[in-house]
Amino acid sequence: MVTVNKNYLKLPGSYLFSTIAKKVAAYQAANPDVEIVRLGIGDVTQPLVPAIIDALHKSVDEMANAETFHGYAPDLGYEFLRSAIAKNDYEARGCQISADEIFVSDGAKSDSGNIQEIFGTDNKVAVCDPVYPVYVDTNVMAGRTGEYNKKNENFDGVIYMPCLESNGFLPELPVETPDLIYLCFPNNPSGAAITKDKLQEWVDYANKNGAVIIYDAAYEAYITEEDVPHSIYECEGARTCAIELRSFSKNAGFTGVRLGFTVVPKDLVREGVALHDLWARRHGTKFNGAPYIVQRAGEAVYSPEGKAQLKEQVAYYMRNAHTIYNGLKEAGYSVSGGVNAPYIWLKTPNNMSSWDFFDYLLKTAHVVGTPGSGFGAHGEGFFRLTAFGTYENTLEAIRRITAL
Ligand code: MLT
Repeated sequence: MVTVNKNYLKLPGSYLFSTIAKKVAAYQAANPDVEIVRLGIGDVTQPLVPAIIDALHKSVDEMANAETFHGYAPDLGYEFLRSAIAKNDYEARGCQISADEIFVSDGAKSDSGNIQEIFGTDNKVAVCDPVYPVYVDTNVMAGRTGEYNKKNENFDGVIYMPCLESNGFLPELPVETPDLIYLCFPNNPSGAAITKDKLQEWVDYANKNGAVIIYDAAYEAYITEEDVPHSIYECEGARTCAIELRSFSKNAGFTGVRLGFTVVPKDLVREGVALHDLWARRHGTKFNGAPYIVQRAGEAVYSPEGKAQLKEQVAYYMRNAHTIYNGLKEAGYSVSGGVNAPYIWLKTPNNMSSWDFFDYLLKTAHVVGTPGSGFGAHGEGFFRLTAFGTYENTLEAIRRITAL
């Protein structure tokens, strides 16, 4: 008889955002007249900008013609997009990343879940706590962790790096040396940003210990402060210890379009093996390339018109971030994030648990957020609101919350 991957059975409950969606759907079904404002999952609300829509239309028309039709995309991505990324995201910031070190994909969620496949299952994983659940869950699925520990609300065998108010929501170098280190900056869920000097410490630490950093920079477009790096490759030595994940979802509204990329520098070698070759092998075997029309849309992100239009879109969401931050602060909440990130991280009032606050907000203000404990034990007592709503809904949500 067939056996199942028992590692999946270690995972308690369903995926965080599925759990929230189910709870909200049940509440809405029971209260059909209530207008719920959703500031839970970090999903965008603004339409694709005109430069991207034009590129999509044009490429769709190309698909209607035998001479310009495109079948399978190159599995590592079209040259036109990889070059645009190398030039704009890396060369322009003084980072030495070439087009052939960039692997185009259908989004950073897939890549952040899949990247662990190229590492041995005996590697020790370190994550921030709270953390984007995909990093931990996919390592659980792969058998890189022990059992779920109900008392501590975490998995045995994982190094959790508490990100607390007392350390500015930034992880400290762990006592036990990890092999794989997941870092996400600007951070999801706390919205905290790391300075270049601080990130350099992580790069030096990883190089010294032979560890590999998986750096999720999905929110880099929201950075406003000068000393905050947009890429880990702004740090010296990152080419020999870091893989970077990037997304088109948050900077260009591609959550429903799907496009992302991963950078694996050719200098990143462990046990004499170039990780670039392993990821290329994995990509080639398991992925048939992001769609041509989507990659053309991605290229438009880097056109002068695309850049200007997206700057405005990011500013739109950041106005929401400021609205949430300032509104809650004035109402006496303890808030952080929202300066270099589209997430606001607030302390629940009256020591309420994160899920109790979730229920309370849903039932009294009809506002949905994300409970901090859903991101890990050290997220307990915190709550995340996203700035990706419409401006009108954001104002309404803050009006309702502050009126409570
Ligand atoms: C979030 O809300 O944390 C994100 O939208 C999740 C994601 O990007 O997959």
